[in-house]
Amino acid sequence: MTMRKLIAGNWKMNGMLAALDEVAAIAETAAAHPAADVALALPATLIAAAAARSPGLAIGAQDVHARDSGAHTGCLSAAMLREAGARFTLVGHSERRGDQGETNQDIWAKAVAARRCGLSVILCVGETAEERDAGRAARVVQAQIEQGLPDDAEGDWLTLAYEPRWAIGTGRTPSIPEIAEIHAVARAKVRALLGDRSGAVRILYGGSVTGANADEILAIADVDGALVGGASLTAAKFAPIVAAGAATAV
Ligand code: 13P
Repeated sequence: MTMRKLIAGNWKMNGMLAALDEVAAIAETAAAHPAADVALALPATLIAAAAARSPGLAIGAQDVHARDSGAHTGCLSAAMLREAGARFTLVGHSERRGDQGETNQDIWAKAVAARRCGLSVILCVGETAEERDAGRAARVVQAQIEQGLPDDAEGDWLTLAYEPRWAIGTGRTPSIPEIAEIHAVARAKVRALLGDRSGAVRILYGGSVTGANADEILAIADVDGALVGGASLTAAKFAPIVAAGAATAV
């Protein structure tokens, strides 16, 4: 199925209030390319101000706690994020799987909590370099989807993002056939788990996407958009990727 492309930025731990001008510029870029969907996962400290200043842009969070409230120092619930203006959240980003030791079970619980509070979810999956070298990339991604996907998942609120860990922030990307292979595996797994409800689940590619490679990557079958780190930090770098997403829309 061909779907509208989603071009999502992930600012990670970048951005002070002064960067709201850049958010506004990205909102203008999004408005200028209505054929693509655009979203921005911001540091939690910027969500409320960004949502107020750029109400037309889908602003989201980068993580969420699995519980609604309680003694969880330093954490934020889905309801808090939603009240601040977030429409979605990432869960299972590889930097959290790596740095915070998040498991598939943790990530599943976060996705369930987000959904319960009305946040859409971008569930991130992807193998390490060692797993790829051992020929296990497809199996790792299949397991991450199987164990991370809530039972009642469906396309109107769920997006997957395939981000091979070794391609994040490195300037290295898998080859086009390698991306196509894992996206096809991910699509088949989502279809097997969700059946008819899987039709609208978009599968994004992430890992060193730039204006220079976006056209080629977004043209791959089963690549329904991109999750972009470094190149989403300025409208100037992000705009060509958004334009590529709009151009490949059918
Ligand atoms: P880069 O685009 O900087 O490689 O980051 C990708 C990413 O991790 C997005 O979530």
